[in-house]
Amino acid sequence: MPKENMKIRKCLFPAAGYGTRFLPATKAIPKEMLPILTKPLLQYGVEEAREAGIDTMAIVTGRGKRAIEDHFDRSFELEHQIDGTSKEILMKEIRDIVKNCTISYTRQGEMKGLGHAIWTGQTLIGDEPFAVILADDLCDNDGEAVLTQMVKLYEKYRCSIVAVEEIPLEHSNKYGVIAGHEEEDGVIRVTNMVEKPESKDAPSNLAIIGRYILTPDIFDILEDTKPGKGGEIQITDALLTQAKTGGVIAYKFKGKRFDCGSVDGFVKATNFFYNKTQE
Ligand code: G1P
Repeated sequence: MPKENMKIRKCLFPAAGYGTRFLPATKAIPKEMLPILTKPLLQYGVEEAREAGIDTMAIVTGRGKRAIEDHFDRSFELEHQIDGTSKEILMKEIRDIVKNCTISYTRQGEMKGLGHAIWTGQTLIGDEPFAVILADDLCDNDGEAVLTQMVKLYEKYRCSIVAVEEIPLEHSNKYGVIAGHEEEDGVIRVTNMVEKPESKDAPSNLAIIGRYILTPDIFDILEDTKPGKGGEIQITDALLTQAKTGGVIAYKFKGKRFDCGSVDGFVKATNFFYNKTQE
């Protein structure tokens, strides 16, 4: 079977960043472990991947991230303590993940950008199309989750996909920004993409958010991608190479997204999810 016809089975989670915007909280705790209510950000991401039919999680970590591995593992003493008590329910989702998913890790030795982090994950992904979730972009939907929407779209287009949303132009320097032509409602064939442009250089107001589906040729492209914005290897630059042969679409996803990499977005997400529990 041609590899682009394969089902999306694996999701990569780049999780090696320092989380400096949340210091001192992130001095000893990985930013991916910061909770929205009682659940760490990364667990939301893993649950979104599972909803999309994915059961293999590939996590790219770095120094000081061992709490992630402990979280996605059994905790015999604790579980023994709470078994048969009213607290058992609080562990239901994480226990279910640990039982039913394969979770593997590799370390990014040097911080050389998101493109480099994804490239580091090749050893866990192999030669097949895969999803990427940036856990600090937290998404919520009443209907299908964003990654589920994208996996369905992949089954139709069989090429790399980036999720995009409209942003005020003055925020363009925080995102990869795309341009292209609409193929169908909400689906854009990408012809250009720029990493964190100033608003005057932004090719549109459509910003990439932290959900991707990538075809495996991206790994070879990343290997040849020179450092770009900020001296880092950018996934946006590698995707532009794919886009030049028509291989990338952008998808205006349905749902809400919170930038939990910023204190402002984190607080908004906390309030939003708290209010949901009160409905
Ligand atoms: C990364 C990507 C950027 C994308 C963003 C989405 O940037 O480089 O293209 O728009 O994620 O969250 P970061 O937020 O890691 O600086």
